[in-house]
Amino acid sequence: MDDVKNKPRRDFIVLTASAVAGVGAVSAIWPLLDSLNPSADVMAMASIEVDLSSIEVGQAITVKWRGKPIFIRHRTEKEVSTARSVNVSELPDPQTDEERVKKGHEQWLVMIGICTHLGCIPLGQSLGSPKGEYGGWFCPCHGSEYDTSGRIRKGPAPKNLYLPEYTFLKNTFIKIG
Ligand code: FES
Repeated sequence: MDDVKNKPRRDFIVLTASAVAGVGAVSAIWPLLDSLNPSADVMAMASIEVDLSSIEVGQAITVKWRGKPIFIRHRTEKEVSTARSVNVSELPDPQTDEERVKKGHEQWLVMIGICTHLGCIPLGQSLGSPKGEYGGWFCPCHGSEYDTSGRIRKGPAPKNLYLPEYTFLKNTFIKIG
């Protein structure tokens, strides 16, 4: 039996924002617009907006932003409390969970989904995929393990998963970039 068929469809949600195509188009015509100094326009096009309302607790989605995968996880209460019970001074890249999320939106973790070792894309986005010993993400390339705050806990990666610039426009609506 095909294992993929047994998993919930929502497990495989991958969204590609239309703004990504817009960025490419703007880049292609850059020489023509250069004299008009369109940098503000380019920056605006380089942002994407993501509706989080359909992501259930415990689920994660991946969106593309400026060519990079952005991991968005709707964390469970347990994932949040586990991330906050860690002794930060013992972490390879010390950072509190509070520093990695937006105040009042602690359940949402938004990160660049690229391993800080050599750039592989960690596993852990879909419900059934390996999340490593710390319940976050597992990089299959050389075994780095990230926790439910996306902090590096084990393996060769030197840094926590990076955070993109983003803001909450509404309770379940964010703008990245
Ligand atoms: S690229 Fe992820 S552990 Fe090496």
